[in-house]
Amino acid sequence: MQVVTRIAELRAGLEPLRRASRSIGFVPTMGYLHRGHEALVRAAREECDVVVVSVFVNPLQFAPNEDFESYPRDSERDRAILSAAGTDFLFQPDVAEIYPRQLLTEVAVPELSHTLEGGTRPTHFQGVATVVLKLFHIVWPDKAYFGQKDGQQVAVVRRLCQDLDLPLELRVVPTVREPDGLALSSRNVYLSPEQREAAPSLYLALEKGREAALAGMEGSAVQAEIERRIAEEPLARLDYAAVVDPDTMQPKADLTGRVMLAAAAYFGKTRLIDNLIVDL
Ligand code: PAJ
Repeated sequence: MQVVTRIAELRAGLEPLRRASRSIGFVPTMGYLHRGHEALVRAAREECDVVVVSVFVNPLQFAPNEDFESYPRDSERDRAILSAAGTDFLFQPDVAEIYPRQLLTEVAVPELSHTLEGGTRPTHFQGVATVVLKLFHIVWPDKAYFGQKDGQQVAVVRRLCQDLDLPLELRVVPTVREPDGLALSSRNVYLSPEQREAAPSLYLALEKGREAALAGMEGSAVQAEIERRIAEEPLARLDYAAVVDPDTMQPKADLTGRVMLAAAAYFGKTRLIDNLIVDL
């Protein structure tokens, strides 16, 4: 595995491979890797000749009151995991490499960014869209891998690719979970033992929502069911629950076709998100 910190160096490494028609798979991450990230790298390894993984904690997608400074980092461990998973290039730039000057350009998908996660984190998806587009231009992948765990991020990136005619294929990998249902997340390390025990309630509430949807309830009733189930867990504080179209992020009343059930809740200071896609 080649570890690269400079944009020019990565481009120079990839250029001969691209010219030799090798397909390039790209997995953007913020590091502190777990089995969820590994599933993305594995998918890229299976489908592409060359696998590029970025580890970059993007300051632009954190609000001033959020956890940019304290976001968990473990570069040594990330390198070992990525090397074992068959990564060819680890791109690990510092902040000045990605943002060498004040950004005067905006990249945003506002329609998809102001509900759900965007309701609580209004500047988050503009930061995601900007860094993802920059990384795509740096790596120029044939396929890019994202986790369903961040369902709204998938919607934002998909629309960005469509609207700006980016010549790459978006691949979405199912959410990897702990045996008790909790979705793997770098932020799970913040949980106390009691909070960790309570945290699967988020997933279990979504499962109850899925049952309600399959039983024929309409969107608002499914949403109320998810909210009620989360409220039953004393250590959970509901942020939102929603039943939306997975592409537009708009609430769905009449539940037919593909539906995304999404929820976010605080366990102490730690905010966890999860979602399920249901085909009705
Ligand atoms: P990060 O939270 O590190 O996640 C990197 C990728 O791993 C995302 O596509 C995310 O959806 C996926 N992922 C996280 N947990 C997962 C799980 N349990 N199962 C499957 N996939 C999972 O998402 C980001 O970083 C950033 O916003 C980024 C796209 C890198 C832009 O900065």
